[in-house]
Amino acid sequence: MSNVIILGAQWGDEGKGKIVDLFCGHFDIVARYQGGHNAGHTVQIGDKKFVLKLIPSGILHPGKRAVIGNGLVVDPAALLSEMESLTAMGVNVAEQLSISNRAHVLFPFHRTMERMLDAIGTTSRGIGPCYEDKAGRRGIRMAGLLDREHFAAQFDALAAEKDAVARAFGVAEDLNLGQIRAEYEAFAERIRPMVCDTARLLNEAIRDGKRVMFEGAQATMLDLDHGTYPFVTSSSASAGGACTGTGVPPTSIDAIIGVAKAYTTRVGGGPFPTEALDVMGDEIRRRGNEFGSVTGRPRRCGWFDIPLARYSAMLNGIDSLVVTKLDVLDELEKIPVCVTYRSGRHEITEMPATTRGFEAVEPVFECLPGWRTPTLGVSRYEDLPVEAREYVAYLESRAGVEIACISTGPERNQTIVRPGTRFAKLFS
Ligand code: GDP
Ligand code: IMO
Ligand code: MG
Repeated sequence: MSNVIILGAQWGDEGKGKIVDLFCGHFDIVARYQGGHNAGHTVQIGDKKFVLKLIPSGILHPGKRAVIGNGLVVDPAALLSEMESLTAMGVNVAEQLSISNRAHVLFPFHRTMERMLDAIGTTSRGIGPCYEDKAGRRGIRMAGLLDREHFAAQFDALAAEKDAVARAFGVAEDLNLGQIRAEYEAFAERIRPMVCDTARLLNEAIRDGKRVMFEGAQATMLDLDHGTYPFVTSSSASAGGACTGTGVPPTSIDAIIGVAKAYTTRVGGGPFPTEALDVMGDEIRRRGNEFGSVTGRPRRCGWFDIPLARYSAMLNGIDSLVVTKLDVLDELEKIPVCVTYRSGRHEITEMPATTRGFEAVEPVFECLPGWRTPTLGVSRYEDLPVEAREYVAYLESRAGVEIACISTGPERNQTIVRPGTRFAKLFS
Protein backbone atom coordinates (compact mmCIF):
# COMPACT_ATOMS: atom_id res chain seq x y z
CA MET A 1 0.00 0.00 0.00
CA SER A 2 1.35 3.38 -0.85
CA ASN A 3 -1.01 6.20 -1.71
CA VAL A 4 -3.80 6.96 0.72
CA ILE A 5 -6.61 9.51 0.87
CA ILE A 6 -7.62 10.82 4.30
CA LEU A 7 -10.90 12.72 4.22
CA GLY A 8 -13.80 13.93 6.32
CA ALA A 9 -16.79 11.59 6.42
CA GLN A 10 -19.31 14.03 7.91
CA TRP A 11 -19.65 17.86 7.66
CA GLY A 12 -16.06 18.87 8.41
CA ASP A 13 -13.84 19.46 11.43
CA GLU A 14 -13.65 15.74 12.17
CA GLY A 15 -10.01 16.01 13.24
CA LYS A 16 -8.42 15.40 9.82
CA GLY A 17 -5.46 17.63 10.69
CA LYS A 18 -4.53 15.53 13.71
CA ILE A 19 -4.82 12.24 11.80
CA VAL A 20 -2.89 13.49 8.74
CA ASP A 21 -0.11 14.80 10.97
CA LEU A 22 -0.01 11.60 12.99
CA PHE A 23 0.40 9.24 10.06
CA CYS A 24 2.27 11.37 7.59
CA GLY A 25 5.59 9.95 8.77
CA HIS A 26 4.71 6.95 6.56
CA PHE A 27 4.54 9.11 3.42
CA ASP A 28 6.97 11.17 1.34
CA ILE A 29 4.45 13.75 0.12
CA VAL A 30 1.23 15.20 1.52
CA ALA A 31 -1.08 16.82 -1.06
CA ARG A 32 -4.21 18.92 -0.63
CA TYR A 33 -6.63 18.45 -3.52
CA GLN A 34 -9.50 20.94 -3.05
CA GLY A 35 -10.82 23.89 -1.10
CA GLY A 36 -8.82 26.85 0.06
CA HIS A 37 -8.36 28.80 3.26
CA ASN A 38 -11.91 27.93 4.29
CA ALA A 39 -10.33 24.84 5.88
CA GLY A 40 -8.95 24.91 9.41
CA HIS A 41 -6.95 21.82 10.33
CA THR A 42 -5.64 21.79 13.89
CA VAL A 43 -2.48 19.98 14.84
CA GLN A 44 -1.53 19.98 18.51
CA ILE A 45 2.07 19.09 19.26
CA GLY A 46 2.79 19.45 22.96
CA ASP A 47 1.97 23.01 23.93
CA LYS A 48 2.16 24.20 20.32
CA LYS A 49 -1.05 24.49 18.35
CA PHE A 50 -0.96 24.90 14.57
CA VAL A 51 -4.09 25.69 12.55
CA LEU A 52 -3.41 24.97 8.87
CA LYS A 53 -5.71 26.53 6.32
CA LEU A 54 -4.25 26.28 2.83
CA ILE A 55 -1.01 24.47 3.48
CA PRO A 56 -1.13 20.68 3.94
CA SER A 57 -0.73 19.53 7.53
CA GLY A 58 2.27 17.40 6.47
CA ILE A 59 4.37 20.56 6.28
CA LEU A 60 5.01 20.21 10.03
CA HIS A 61 7.20 17.19 9.36
CA PRO A 62 10.68 18.38 8.41
CA GLY A 63 11.73 17.31 4.92
CA LYS A 64 8.27 16.22 3.74
CA ARG A 65 7.06 17.69 0.49
CA ALA A 66 3.70 19.45 0.80
CA VAL A 67 1.68 20.03 -2.35
CA ILE A 68 -1.16 22.46 -3.07
CA GLY A 69 -2.87 20.71 -5.98
CA ASN A 70 -4.62 22.11 -9.03
CA GLY A 71 -8.03 21.61 -7.39
CA LEU A 72 -7.48 24.39 -4.84
CA VAL A 73 -8.31 28.07 -4.92
CA VAL A 74 -5.44 30.08 -3.49
CA ASP A 75 -5.62 33.51 -1.92
CA PRO A 76 -1.96 34.60 -2.15
CA ALA A 77 -2.30 37.01 0.79
CA ALA A 78 -3.67 34.21 2.99
CA LEU A 79 -0.99 31.84 1.73
CA LEU A 80 1.86 34.22 2.44
CA SER A 81 0.52 35.09 5.87
CA GLU A 82 0.19 31.39 6.73
CA MET A 83 3.71 30.81 5.43
CA GLU A 84 5.03 33.63 7.59
CA SER A 85 3.46 32.34 10.78
CA LEU A 86 4.67 28.78 10.12
CA THR A 87 8.16 30.04 9.31
CA ALA A 88 8.16 32.00 12.57
CA MET A 89 7.34 28.73 14.34
CA GLY A 90 10.41 27.09 12.79
CA VAL A 91 8.85 25.34 9.76
CA ASN A 92 10.84 25.44 6.52
CA VAL A 93 7.82 26.21 4.33
CA ALA A 94 9.65 27.73 1.35
CA GLU A 95 11.75 24.55 0.97
CA GLN A 96 8.93 22.05 1.42
CA LEU A 97 5.96 23.59 -0.40
CA SER A 98 5.01 23.14 -4.07
CA ILE A 99 2.00 24.87 -5.61
CA SER A 100 0.23 23.79 -8.77
CA ASN A 101 0.50 26.15 -11.73
CA ARG A 102 -3.12 25.20 -12.44
CA ALA A 103 -4.56 26.14 -9.03
CA HIS A 104 -6.92 29.11 -9.27
CA VAL A 105 -6.13 32.50 -7.77
CA LEU A 106 -8.60 34.09 -5.35
CA PHE A 107 -8.94 37.89 -5.42
CA PRO A 108 -10.52 40.36 -2.94
CA PHE A 109 -13.48 40.88 -5.30
CA HIS A 110 -14.41 37.21 -4.79
CA ARG A 111 -15.16 38.10 -1.18
CA THR A 112 -17.23 41.08 -2.36
CA MET A 113 -19.26 38.72 -4.58
CA GLU A 114 -19.75 36.36 -1.66
CA ARG A 115 -20.99 39.11 0.66
CA MET A 116 -23.53 39.99 -2.00
CA LEU A 117 -24.89 36.53 -2.60
CA ASP A 118 -24.20 34.26 0.39
CA ALA A 119 -27.40 32.54 1.43
CA ILE A 120 -25.94 29.51 3.21
CA GLY A 121 -23.54 30.82 5.88
CA THR A 122 -20.17 30.35 4.21
CA THR A 123 -16.77 31.07 5.72
CA SER A 124 -16.79 34.41 3.78
CA ARG A 125 -13.43 33.68 2.22
CA GLY A 126 -14.63 34.10 -1.38
CA ILE A 127 -14.20 30.39 -2.09
CA GLY A 128 -17.48 29.85 -3.99
CA PRO A 129 -17.14 32.88 -6.29
CA CYS A 130 -13.56 31.87 -7.14
CA TYR A 131 -14.74 28.37 -8.12
CA GLU A 132 -17.56 30.02 -10.09
CA ASP A 133 -14.97 31.83 -12.18
CA LYS A 134 -13.09 28.57 -12.64
CA ALA A 135 -16.22 26.78 -13.89
CA GLY A 136 -17.13 29.84 -15.95
CA ARG A 137 -13.72 29.65 -17.65
CA ARG A 138 -12.74 33.19 -16.81
CA GLY A 139 -10.66 32.50 -13.68
CA ILE A 140 -6.96 33.25 -13.41
CA ARG A 141 -4.66 30.37 -12.56
CA MET A 142 -1.27 30.44 -10.86
CA ALA A 143 0.41 30.21 -14.25
CA GLY A 144 -1.58 33.28 -15.33
CA LEU A 145 -0.58 35.19 -12.20
CA LEU A 146 3.07 34.46 -12.97
CA ASP A 147 2.77 35.52 -16.61
CA ARG A 148 4.34 38.97 -16.41
CA GLU A 149 3.22 39.95 -19.91
CA HIS A 150 -0.44 38.98 -19.76
CA PHE A 151 -1.48 39.08 -16.10
CA ALA A 152 -2.40 42.79 -16.07
CA ALA A 153 -4.82 42.45 -18.98
CA GLN A 154 -6.40 39.28 -17.56
CA PHE A 155 -6.77 40.92 -14.16
CA ASP A 156 -8.27 44.10 -15.58
CA ALA A 157 -10.89 42.16 -17.56
CA LEU A 158 -11.94 40.06 -14.56
CA ALA A 159 -11.89 43.00 -12.15
CA ALA A 160 -13.97 45.17 -14.52
CA GLU A 161 -16.59 42.43 -14.73
CA LYS A 162 -16.79 42.10 -10.93
CA ASP A 163 -16.95 45.84 -10.53
CA ALA A 164 -19.87 46.02 -12.96
CA VAL A 165 -21.73 43.25 -11.13
CA ALA A 166 -21.14 44.88 -7.75
CA ARG A 167 -22.39 48.21 -9.08
CA ALA A 168 -25.49 46.58 -10.54
CA PHE A 169 -26.23 45.13 -7.10
CA GLY A 170 -25.47 48.46 -5.45
CA VAL A 171 -22.69 47.02 -3.29
CA ALA A 172 -19.66 48.36 -5.11
CA GLU A 173 -16.83 49.11 -2.74
CA ASP A 174 -14.27 51.58 -3.82
CA LEU A 175 -11.67 48.94 -4.45
CA ASN A 176 -8.46 50.38 -5.74
CA LEU A 177 -8.05 47.87 -8.53
CA GLY A 178 -4.71 49.29 -9.62
CA GLN A 179 -3.35 48.79 -6.14
CA ILE A 180 -4.72 45.24 -5.92
CA ARG A 181 -3.12 44.41 -9.27
CA ALA A 182 0.24 45.74 -8.07
CA GLU A 183 -0.09 43.75 -4.84
CA TYR A 184 -0.78 40.57 -6.77
CA GLU A 185 2.18 41.25 -9.07
CA ALA A 186 4.34 41.45 -5.94
CA PHE A 187 2.77 38.27 -4.49
CA ALA A 188 3.58 36.51 -7.76
CA GLU A 189 7.29 37.10 -7.36
CA ARG A 190 7.26 35.69 -3.82
CA ILE A 191 5.28 32.62 -4.83
CA ARG A 192 7.02 31.98 -8.18
CA PRO A 193 9.81 29.69 -6.85
CA MET A 194 7.24 27.24 -5.44
CA VAL A 195 4.94 27.02 -8.47
CA CYS A 196 5.25 24.06 -10.84
CA ASP A 197 3.31 21.32 -12.60
CA THR A 198 2.43 19.38 -9.46
CA ALA A 199 0.58 16.65 -11.42
CA ARG A 200 3.88 15.80 -12.99
CA LEU A 201 5.73 16.10 -9.68
CA LEU A 202 3.28 13.69 -8.01
CA ASN A 203 3.11 11.16 -10.84
CA GLU A 204 6.89 11.05 -11.20
CA ALA A 205 7.28 10.62 -7.45
CA ILE A 206 4.76 7.74 -7.49
CA ARG A 207 6.58 6.17 -10.44
CA ASP A 208 9.78 6.34 -8.35
CA GLY A 209 8.14 4.46 -5.49
CA LYS A 210 7.35 7.44 -3.27
CA ARG A 211 4.22 7.41 -1.13
CA VAL A 212 1.62 10.15 -1.27
CA MET A 213 -1.00 11.04 1.31
CA PHE A 214 -3.96 13.05 0.00
CA GLU A 215 -5.38 15.37 2.65
CA GLY A 216 -9.05 16.17 2.20
CA ALA A 217 -10.52 19.44 3.37
CA GLN A 218 -14.18 20.07 4.27
CA ALA A 219 -15.95 16.72 4.00
CA THR A 220 -18.16 14.34 2.06
CA MET A 221 -21.45 15.94 3.09
CA LEU A 222 -20.06 19.34 2.03
CA ASP A 223 -19.05 17.96 -1.39
CA LEU A 224 -20.50 20.05 -4.21
CA ASP A 225 -22.10 17.02 -5.91
CA HIS A 226 -22.74 14.57 -3.10
CA GLY A 227 -23.32 16.77 -0.07
CA THR A 228 -26.44 18.48 1.22
CA TYR A 229 -26.69 20.83 -1.79
CA PRO A 230 -26.96 23.83 -1.79
CA PHE A 231 -25.55 23.88 1.75
CA VAL A 232 -22.16 22.67 0.60
CA THR A 233 -18.78 24.03 -0.35
CA SER A 234 -17.90 24.56 -4.01
CA SER A 235 -15.34 21.78 -4.46
CA SER A 236 -15.12 17.98 -4.68
CA ALA A 237 -14.28 17.05 -1.12
CA SER A 238 -15.02 13.34 -1.51
CA ALA A 239 -12.52 10.74 -2.69
CA GLY A 240 -12.98 11.38 -6.42
CA GLY A 241 -11.73 14.93 -5.89
CA ALA A 242 -8.29 13.62 -4.93
CA CYS A 243 -7.74 12.54 -8.55
CA THR A 244 -9.22 15.53 -10.37
CA GLY A 245 -7.67 17.87 -7.82
CA THR A 246 -4.11 16.59 -8.24
CA GLY A 247 -3.87 14.86 -11.63
CA VAL A 248 -3.06 11.51 -10.02
CA PRO A 249 -5.12 8.75 -11.66
CA PRO A 250 -7.56 6.56 -9.67
CA THR A 251 -5.38 3.53 -10.44
CA SER A 252 -2.66 5.04 -8.25
CA ILE A 253 -4.84 5.27 -5.14
CA ASP A 254 -4.49 2.32 -2.78
CA ALA A 255 -6.68 3.10 0.21
CA ILE A 256 -9.22 5.55 1.55
CA ILE A 257 -9.47 6.48 5.20
CA GLY A 258 -12.53 8.36 6.45
CA VAL A 259 -12.46 10.46 9.60
CA ALA A 260 -15.64 10.90 11.68
CA LYS A 261 -16.32 12.26 15.12
CA ALA A 262 -17.93 9.97 17.70
CA TYR A 263 -20.86 12.39 17.33
CA THR A 264 -21.64 14.93 14.56
CA THR A 265 -21.14 18.67 14.05
CA ARG A 266 -21.73 21.12 11.26
CA VAL A 267 -21.04 24.85 10.82
CA GLY A 268 -23.31 27.14 8.83
CA GLY A 269 -26.80 26.44 7.50
CA GLY A 270 -28.27 23.26 6.08
CA PRO A 271 -29.97 20.01 7.04
CA PHE A 272 -28.68 18.17 10.10
CA PRO A 273 -31.10 15.37 11.08
CA THR A 274 -29.39 14.37 14.35
CA GLU A 275 -28.81 17.91 15.63
CA ALA A 276 -29.29 18.16 19.41
CA LEU A 277 -31.04 21.48 19.91
CA ASP A 278 -31.37 20.90 23.64
CA VAL A 279 -28.96 21.22 26.53
CA MET A 280 -27.14 18.08 25.34
CA GLY A 281 -26.04 19.92 22.20
CA ASP A 282 -24.64 22.70 24.38
CA GLU A 283 -22.88 20.15 26.54
CA ILE A 284 -21.12 18.55 23.56
CA ARG A 285 -20.16 22.00 22.25
CA ARG A 286 -18.64 22.87 25.61
CA ARG A 287 -16.82 19.59 26.18
CA GLY A 288 -15.66 19.30 22.57
CA ASN A 289 -14.79 23.00 22.31
CA GLU A 290 -16.87 23.03 19.15
CA PHE A 291 -16.13 26.48 17.79
CA GLY A 292 -14.86 26.97 14.23
CA SER A 293 -11.06 26.99 13.98
CA VAL A 294 -11.26 29.54 11.13
CA THR A 295 -14.30 31.69 11.86
CA GLY A 296 -14.81 31.00 15.60
CA ARG A 297 -18.50 30.31 14.91
CA PRO A 298 -20.20 27.90 17.34
CA ARG A 299 -20.55 24.52 15.64
CA ARG A 300 -23.97 22.91 15.63
CA CYS A 301 -23.74 19.62 17.55
CA GLY A 302 -25.66 16.35 17.40
CA TRP A 303 -25.42 12.58 17.49
CA PHE A 304 -23.63 10.02 15.36
CA ASP A 305 -25.62 9.38 12.19
CA ILE A 306 -25.36 5.82 10.86
CA PRO A 307 -27.24 6.39 7.54
CA LEU A 308 -24.89 9.29 6.84
CA ALA A 309 -21.80 7.23 7.74
CA ARG A 310 -22.94 4.41 5.47
CA TYR A 311 -23.61 6.83 2.63
CA SER A 312 -20.22 8.41 3.10
CA ALA A 313 -18.51 5.00 3.18
CA MET A 314 -20.24 4.09 -0.08
CA LEU A 315 -19.44 7.34 -1.91
CA ASN A 316 -15.79 7.29 -0.96
CA GLY A 317 -15.12 3.56 -0.82
CA ILE A 318 -13.84 3.98 2.72
CA ASP A 319 -11.56 1.12 3.77
CA SER A 320 -11.29 2.14 7.38
CA LEU A 321 -12.95 4.79 9.52
CA VAL A 322 -11.10 6.77 12.18
CA VAL A 323 -13.38 7.83 15.05
CA THR A 324 -12.25 10.98 16.85
CA LYS A 325 -13.20 12.83 20.02
CA LEU A 326 -14.49 9.76 21.83
CA ASP A 327 -13.38 11.44 25.09
CA VAL A 328 -15.93 14.22 24.55
CA LEU A 329 -18.72 11.72 25.34
CA ASP A 330 -17.09 10.58 28.61
CA GLU A 331 -19.62 12.08 31.02
CA LEU A 332 -22.82 11.06 29.28
CA GLU A 333 -25.14 8.59 30.92
CA LYS A 334 -26.77 7.59 27.64
CA ILE A 335 -25.60 8.19 24.09
CA PRO A 336 -28.19 8.37 21.30
CA VAL A 337 -27.14 7.02 17.89
CA CYS A 338 -29.29 7.55 14.80
CA VAL A 339 -29.84 4.13 13.22
CA THR A 340 -32.23 5.07 10.44
CA TYR A 341 -34.37 7.88 9.05
CA ARG A 342 -38.13 7.79 8.99
CA SER A 343 -40.91 9.93 7.59
CA GLY A 344 -44.16 9.18 9.36
CA ARG A 345 -44.41 5.39 9.30
CA HIS A 346 -42.07 4.98 6.35
CA GLU A 347 -38.41 4.24 6.64
CA ILE A 348 -36.30 6.43 4.37
CA THR A 349 -33.63 4.28 2.84
CA GLU A 350 -32.17 6.83 0.44
CA MET A 351 -30.29 9.98 1.37
CA PRO A 352 -32.72 12.81 0.42
CA ALA A 353 -31.59 14.88 -2.56
CA THR A 354 -33.39 18.05 -1.53
CA THR A 355 -33.44 20.28 1.52
CA ARG A 356 -37.19 19.74 1.72
CA GLY A 357 -36.60 15.99 1.69
CA PHE A 358 -34.16 16.35 4.59
CA GLU A 359 -36.61 18.48 6.51
CA ALA A 360 -39.10 15.61 6.35
CA VAL A 361 -36.62 13.21 7.91
CA GLU A 362 -37.12 12.05 11.50
CA PRO A 363 -34.06 10.36 12.95
CA VAL A 364 -34.69 7.10 14.79
CA PHE A 365 -32.37 6.82 17.77
CA GLU A 366 -31.09 3.90 19.78
CA CYS A 367 -29.63 4.83 23.16
CA LEU A 368 -26.39 3.20 24.19
CA PRO A 369 -25.09 3.24 27.75
CA GLY A 370 -22.36 5.78 28.43
CA TRP A 371 -19.16 4.88 30.30
CA ARG A 372 -18.82 7.83 32.67
CA THR A 373 -15.10 7.19 33.02
CA PRO A 374 -12.36 9.42 31.57
CA THR A 375 -10.95 8.14 28.28
CA LEU A 376 -8.85 11.23 27.51
CA GLY A 377 -5.46 10.05 26.34
CA VAL A 378 -6.21 6.29 26.35
CA SER A 379 -3.92 4.69 23.78
CA ARG A 380 -4.79 0.98 23.98
CA TYR A 381 -8.15 -0.41 22.95
CA GLU A 382 -8.26 -2.81 25.91
CA ASP A 383 -7.86 0.15 28.28
CA LEU A 384 -11.15 1.69 27.14
CA PRO A 385 -14.12 1.10 29.46
CA VAL A 386 -16.25 -1.78 28.21
CA GLU A 387 -19.17 0.54 27.30
CA ALA A 388 -16.84 2.66 25.16
CA ARG A 389 -15.63 -0.44 23.32
CA GLU A 390 -19.24 -1.51 22.86
CA TYR A 391 -20.10 1.94 21.51
CA VAL A 392 -17.30 1.73 18.92
CA ALA A 393 -18.22 -1.86 18.02
CA TYR A 394 -21.85 -0.77 17.56
CA LEU A 395 -20.90 2.06 15.19
CA GLU A 396 -18.62 -0.31 13.30
CA SER A 397 -21.22 -3.02 12.77
CA ARG A 398 -24.03 -0.56 11.91
CA ALA A 399 -21.91 1.56 9.58
CA GLY A 400 -20.46 -1.57 7.96
CA VAL A 401 -16.91 -0.29 7.94
CA GLU A 402 -13.85 -1.10 10.03
CA ILE A 403 -13.08 1.28 12.91
CA ALA A 404 -9.46 0.59 13.75
CA CYS A 405 -8.24 3.97 14.89
CA ILE A 406 -9.82 5.92 17.73
CA SER A 407 -8.74 9.36 18.87
CA THR A 408 -9.03 10.16 22.55
CA GLY A 409 -7.53 13.65 22.63
CA PRO A 410 -5.99 16.31 20.40
CA GLU A 411 -2.39 15.18 20.84
CA ARG A 412 -0.48 12.67 18.75
CA ASN A 413 -0.12 10.08 21.51
CA GLN A 414 -3.81 10.27 22.45
CA THR A 415 -4.68 7.73 19.79
CA ILE A 416 -5.59 4.05 19.67
CA VAL A 417 -4.70 1.83 16.71
CA ARG A 418 -6.18 -1.65 16.92
CA PRO A 419 -3.49 -4.17 15.96
CA GLY A 420 -4.16 -6.66 13.18
CA THR A 421 -6.63 -4.40 11.37
CA ARG A 422 -6.48 -3.20 7.78
CA PHE A 423 -5.67 0.25 9.09
CA ALA A 424 -2.78 -1.00 11.23
CA LYS A 425 -1.36 -2.86 8.21
CA LEU A 426 -1.52 0.31 6.10
CA PHE A 427 0.65 2.21 8.54
CA SER A 428 3.00 -0.52 9.65
P1 GDP B 1 -10.26 19.27 10.87
O1 GDP B 1 -10.75 20.47 10.16
O2 GDP B 1 -10.95 18.01 10.44
O3 GDP B 1 -8.76 19.11 10.83
O4 GDP B 1 -10.64 19.47 12.42
P2 GDP B 1 -10.49 20.83 13.29
O5 GDP B 1 -9.06 21.04 13.57
O6 GDP B 1 -11.24 21.95 12.65
O7 GDP B 1 -11.31 20.45 14.58
C1 GDP B 1 -10.98 19.37 15.37
C2 GDP B 1 -10.69 19.87 16.80
O8 GDP B 1 -10.71 18.78 17.70
C3 GDP B 1 -9.29 20.46 16.94
O9 GDP B 1 -9.31 21.48 17.90
C4 GDP B 1 -8.44 19.28 17.44
O10 GDP B 1 -7.30 19.70 18.19
C5 GDP B 1 -9.44 18.59 18.31
N1 GDP B 1 -9.30 17.12 18.39
C6 GDP B 1 -8.92 16.24 17.43
N2 GDP B 1 -9.03 14.97 17.87
C7 GDP B 1 -9.51 15.06 19.13
C8 GDP B 1 -9.88 14.08 20.12
O11 GDP B 1 -9.81 12.88 19.91
N3 GDP B 1 -10.35 14.55 21.32
C9 GDP B 1 -10.46 15.89 21.59
N4 GDP B 1 -10.94 16.25 22.78
N5 GDP B 1 -10.13 16.83 20.68
C10 GDP B 1 -9.67 16.42 19.49
P1 IMO C 1 -12.40 21.77 7.44
O1 IMO C 1 -11.45 21.40 6.33
C1 IMO C 1 -16.56 22.76 8.45
C2 IMO C 1 -18.82 25.05 5.46
C3 IMO C 1 -19.23 26.48 5.78
C4 IMO C 1 -20.50 26.60 4.97
C5 IMO C 1 -20.19 25.77 3.72
C6 IMO C 1 -19.73 26.61 2.54
O2 IMO C 1 -11.76 22.51 8.55
O3 IMO C 1 -13.19 20.58 7.88
P2 IMO C 1 -17.47 27.89 1.97
O4 IMO C 1 -16.79 29.04 2.66
O5 IMO C 1 -16.61 26.67 1.86
O6 IMO C 1 -18.08 28.26 0.66
O7 IMO C 1 -18.71 27.52 2.94
O8 IMO C 1 -19.15 24.87 4.10
N1 IMO C 1 -17.37 24.77 5.59
C7 IMO C 1 -16.83 24.03 6.57
N2 IMO C 1 -17.40 23.47 7.66
N3 IMO C 1 -15.24 22.56 8.20
C8 IMO C 1 -14.67 23.10 7.10
O9 IMO C 1 -13.39 22.84 6.74
C9 IMO C 1 -15.46 23.92 6.25
N4 IMO C 1 -15.22 24.62 5.11
C10 IMO C 1 -16.39 25.11 4.72
O10 IMO C 1 -19.46 26.65 7.16
O11 IMO C 1 -21.57 25.95 5.65
MG1 MG D 1 -11.57 22.35 10.57
